[in-house]
Amino acid sequence: MIKVLTLFGTRPEAIKMAPLVKVLEKDPEITSIVCVTAQHRQMLDQVLDVFKIVPDHDLNLMQHGQTLTEVTARVLESVQSVIASEKPDIVLVHGDTTTTFAGALAAFYEQIPVGHVEAGLRSGNIYSPYPEEMNRMLASRLATIHFAATDGNVVNLVREGIDEGKIVKTGNTVIDALVSVIEPDYRFKDPILNNINFEKNKVILVTAHRRENLGEPMVKIFSAIRAIVEHHEDVEVVFPVHLNPKVRSSADEYLTGHSRIHLIEPLEYKPFANLMAKSYLIMTDSGGIQEEAPTLGKPVVVLRTETERPEAVEAGTVVVAGVEKDIIIEMTSRLINDEKYYKTMSEAVNPYGDGRACERIVKFIKLWKYID
Ligand code: UD1
Ligand code: UDP
Repeated sequence: MIKVLTLFGTRPEAIKMAPLVKVLEKDPEITSIVCVTAQHRQMLDQVLDVFKIVPDHDLNLMQHGQTLTEVTARVLESVQSVIASEKPDIVLVHGDTTTTFAGALAAFYEQIPVGHVEAGLRSGNIYSPYPEEMNRMLASRLATIHFAATDGNVVNLVREGIDEGKIVKTGNTVIDALVSVIEPDYRFKDPILNNINFEKNKVILVTAHRRENLGEPMVKIFSAIRAIVEHHEDVEVVFPVHLNPKVRSSADEYLTGHSRIHLIEPLEYKPFANLMAKSYLIMTDSGGIQEEAPTLGKPVVVLRTETERPEAVEAGTVVVAGVEKDIIIEMTSRLINDEKYYKTMSEAVNPYGDGRACERIVKFIKLWKYID
């Protein structure tokens, strides 16, 4: 039996690790242990509920308004004791969060191999996304096996001197998660969402939370969104607001008081994914949404100056608008007004995978026992 400890703590990691946990749980050669740091509390629990995952270890680390240093120290210390007691054969971490980096470091200190899922994304700027670019680079140094989603991710790792034999191209597990929750005739529980006429109006789904966008950039993003709604009578905005108090105060200040802008609580994954599927386009600074939206044929306006997901730009499924008000308005308005342009973007092929990434990861973990 191979003992696999899967570690995660935030909403996006949970969504992307949940289908992998499901495959690990079913495999007769694997003992699957799940440890959550709960770097996010409510937004993590929403995902655990949907995928019916009951963690073996819940470290319950989140504190409101936590600093990066505080979370890093808490994760490092708490995860180390779980790893020391469980003694897994491998620890799986995901992506670029503080849980990822500090968890991988804790595993390294216990001399347990780390498998890094969604390895090899790089923006080339250590301050954007901040601190995620650095977290990813450090996780790559600490990992033994690198599960890369795309060819570009593989190339990035090889360029940094990582042994090609330890890199596996798998596709992104987020597509596995997405295809498991989409329903063509989905009905929302929330009356605000059920009352929206998705046929008559062009519904723009908005999310924003990135640390480097907090403050001035977010004010410019929100002012652009308000202006877009005011200039287009058939545009309606839905914004499930992240629980970060800094995001919530900006959203309250700049986006309330308009009948076609709906600020709602973060949605559980299933309603959120189905809302993406019913929307006209998506404006976001999220990483995961850039990967999901093309599967649903939804163009994405990226509210960031840089992206570590160039495949999406090359495939023509996203446009990077940055954080300047006029440019965001211009790029989004083109998608609202120019049908041909909209159609080209919505029909571009998703470069992130086919929904079978988890299967490939588990297959490699079992093979690796013989290779290593
Ligand atoms: C983290 C990740 C980022 C990821 C994002 C997804 C790091 C460094 N960054 O950033 O890569 O894109 O999550 O959302 O790990 N909060 C709650 N309840 C929740 C979740 C958050 O109240 O369920 C509030 C807390 O006040 C918390 C704050 O949000 O202090 C920020 O959360 P934190 O995990 O520190 O950072 P994020 O900016 O969410
Ligand atoms: N998401 C969700 N509910 C919401 C907003 C987003 O379930 O209200 C999902 C979304 O589909 C994607 C993930 O959360 O899979 C993205 O998380 P987030 O934007 O917090 O982080 P990032 O992708 O930027 O790391």
